[in-house]
Amino acid sequence: RGPEAVTADLSGRHVVISAGGTREPLDPVRYLGNRSSGKQGYALARTAVARGARVTLVAAETGLPDPAGVDVVRIGTAVQLREAVLKAAADADAVVMAAAVADFRPARYAPGKIKKQDDVEQPPLDLVRNPDILAEISADRARPGQIVVGFAAETDDVLANGRKKLARKGCDLLVVNEVGEHRTFGSAENEAVVLAADGTETPVPHGPKEALADTVWDLVAERFS
Ligand code: CTP
Ligand code: CA
Repeated sequence: RGPEAVTADLSGRHVVISAGGTREPLDPVRYLGNRSSGKQGYALARTAVARGARVTLVAAETGLPDPAGVDVVRIGTAVQLREAVLKAAADADAVVMAAAVADFRPARYAPGKIKKQDDVEQPPLDLVRNPDILAEISADRARPGQIVVGFAAETDDVLANGRKKLARKGCDLLVVNEVGEHRTFGSAENEAVVLAADGTETPVPHGPKEALADTVWDLVAERFS
């Protein structure tokens, strides 16, 4: 961690961070979820506090303790995440979407446990699309000059996918990392490339999630000034 990380270069700024994986309930005992640990979002929250920011953390279920000095808003589903992020973003200088948001949710919530029926082969599950929160806040900034950051976990052609996604989402920065069964999810470490809308690319070598978080805040702080 360099000397720049200990300066309060985010003081007077309000930053909103989403973290963890959303859960989309099917019935009282089941949900659709994902393998996001929430650790990267929590590292972003801790490092932002250390750099002087006021921090709102919109957190899905992670099992992680609330970071000190952070305003934590708990959510479950993507729709709840959207509401909480939009509300907090109204006066935010930066919004970082580190959460893994379910792309689809069950079309209906069954208030009683779903039962299989002996004569029905068809699975009793229809899905509908969730709103794209990152695209929405990027297209409709709550404040002029608000900086919006997304995360993309990719497989295969990681960088090419990332560049397309940055353009499609319309955010200022997209942190792209490669994932697989044994990479990134749940780990305390990460390795990434931060793609910027202005065409710059910042590689972040394998290291603690705090180091990646500090690089994200460096790039955000540059864009404030
Ligand atoms: N995201 C979001 N709302 C969604 C889906 C994703 O805000 N409904 C945000 C994530 O928080 C992340 C970024 O968009 O910051 C990229 O997520 P990703 O799942 O990689 O993007 P998708 O557009 O869903 O693309 P894919 O089809 O590859 O899943
Ligand atoms: Ca997705």
